[in-house]
Amino acid sequence: MCGIVGAVSTRNIVPILIEGLKRLEYRGYDSCGVAVHQGGELRRARSTSRVAELEAGAAADGISAGTGIAHTRWATHGAPAVHNAHPHFSAGPTQGKDAKEAASGKVALVHNGIIENHEELRRELQGKGYVFASQTDTEVIAHLVHSLYDGDLLDAVQRALPRLKGAYAIAVFCRDEPHRVVGAREGSPLVVGVGQGENFLASDAMALAGVTNQIIYLEEGDVVDLQMGKVWISRLDAASQRYGAVERPVRTVHAHSGAAELGPYRHYMQKEIFEQPKAIADTLDGVGGLDPSLFGDDAAAVFEGVERVLILACGTSYYAGSTARDWLEAIAGVSTTVEIASEYRYRQSVPDPATLVVTISQSGETADTLAALKHARGLGMTRTLTICNVATSAMVRECRLAFITRAGVEIGVASTKAFTTQLVALYLLSLVMAKQRGRLPAAGEAAAMANLRHLPAALQKVLALEPQVVAWAEAFVPKHHALFLGRGRHYPIALEGALKLKEISYIHAEAYPAGELKHGPLALVDSEMPVVTVAPADDLLEKLKSNMQEVRARGGQLYVCADADTRIEPEPGVHVIRLPEHYGALSPILHVVPLQLLAYHTACARGTDVDKPRNLAKSVTVE
Ligand code: M6R
Repeated sequence: MCGIVGAVSTRNIVPILIEGLKRLEYRGYDSCGVAVHQGGELRRARSTSRVAELEAGAAADGISAGTGIAHTRWATHGAPAVHNAHPHFSAGPTQGKDAKEAASGKVALVHNGIIENHEELRRELQGKGYVFASQTDTEVIAHLVHSLYDGDLLDAVQRALPRLKGAYAIAVFCRDEPHRVVGAREGSPLVVGVGQGENFLASDAMALAGVTNQIIYLEEGDVVDLQMGKVWISRLDAASQRYGAVERPVRTVHAHSGAAELGPYRHYMQKEIFEQPKAIADTLDGVGGLDPSLFGDDAAAVFEGVERVLILACGTSYYAGSTARDWLEAIAGVSTTVEIASEYRYRQSVPDPATLVVTISQSGETADTLAALKHARGLGMTRTLTICNVATSAMVRECRLAFITRAGVEIGVASTKAFTTQLVALYLLSLVMAKQRGRLPAAGEAAAMANLRHLPAALQKVLALEPQVVAWAEAFVPKHHALFLGRGRHYPIALEGALKLKEISYIHAEAYPAGELKHGPLALVDSEMPVVTVAPADDLLEKLKSNMQEVRARGGQLYVCADADTRIEPEPGVHVIRLPEHYGALSPILHVVPLQLLAYHTACARGTDVDKPRNLAKSVTVE
């Protein structure tokens, strides 16, 4: 989603700002921009194209300076257009100014998040003579800071922030203070990069890779005054209503050393699908036995007395939670509910303090999941655990317990290796809770661990099926719709397969528990309808076969991912890809892989932007 980079230095920081934006590109954006303090005035370049075009435009215009800010925008308020792209300028009320002065800027600002009271602020500022050049909620902050500016940018920002409702990370500088950038965060991430005689700001430490590895993670409500030799952080004291200094540790960050290289792959998504055996092996590395401490030092105490589990997540992470419900109930015997975070946060639910609240998130910055976590905590449910792929994320900082998946950086917007490593973590959680409750005999523990350890090798065999999936993909290219069927713990895998297909190929896809077909969706089935069926050799197989007959009887085309021992044979209208072996409880982790490959190859053949599908962002940091 939106990205911020800022810098104060004696050297030309434009290449650093541009490189930072490039490192954030994978998150998804539709416009970008850079503004600097150059020759006593504010200068900027903006583009609705790629960062590379912005770079060329800035170079052609001779933009070069030691102080500046840059941004990638994912449109919320106002279309993706140059006039809505950040940085936004405020030149103050235009009355009495000539056209050049009115078009120039005094305050430049970039913003991630959403300002909910922007309309009210816009009316107020218009009443003071400010003229708006964009439809964005962001521009109100630039004018608000300008309206409060009295020679001290930090003071103006500190006075502006209490007027804002919503979520933000901002970086702002002023024509009258050439060597200063002020940043603030509330609900959106922002970090400081500490350098030698120069300092930086970014919405993600990854943007500063190669520039500095000395990172300060700002906390909610922090305001930072960034100068060449100074980083000063303050926050508002609720009692005195005054800003006071706060100390934040400087951490040495190794994990952000560069975005992943593409290597021999065509797209990051393809690379990440094929990285799954290694990602799972890495996630299991260091897992000696089934001890609660896998989830944090005081996990044993936190798990003790837990009567139910509440899983909160969005998108693919929600489907990981939905799969895990089956494990938590069947293996650990813990009643489990899984809720879409954006729904849970606004629902009047009945809290139970004996609940373990589990958030699942690849990024650890998803706004809805963070808000749902805070909502649950506010209801008195303080036993919190996150399954997350980013150790330094807000989600990890906010939860008492954490399990960090070792998927490595995931660049493709469509989540793949994060999903399968989340499933591994959730399976471990189910085993640990089962053991703590005396439900896992030693032989069962040994068998489960052996199965987990063999998983990377089993996945390699499934990945070897790729050529067969490519052949299927050709049949999907002209389609407008597809159905996905699964049962039991494989129903969430059908949902995930449908999400992958619609997300990157733009084919409309729906998933159903196969037994539900005859209650409505069967009406959609005709000879044009491909029906992807997840068919493990589990105890629901015979029921599933009956559901497949219902499809065949209406002429539907079945595309079946069937375990070797299902005795489902190819025939006209029934296309079969045979998975090597049935993998018991862990079978969903194998069965999702052909569906990821199907979406990938269908999207490639349809010529979509696989890694950056339209309208989507990698990390959804706004509501
Ligand atoms: O970073 P998170 O796991 O919290 O993200 C949640 C969803 O936004 C994410 O899984 C999304 O659905 C993916 N694009 C799906 O491929």
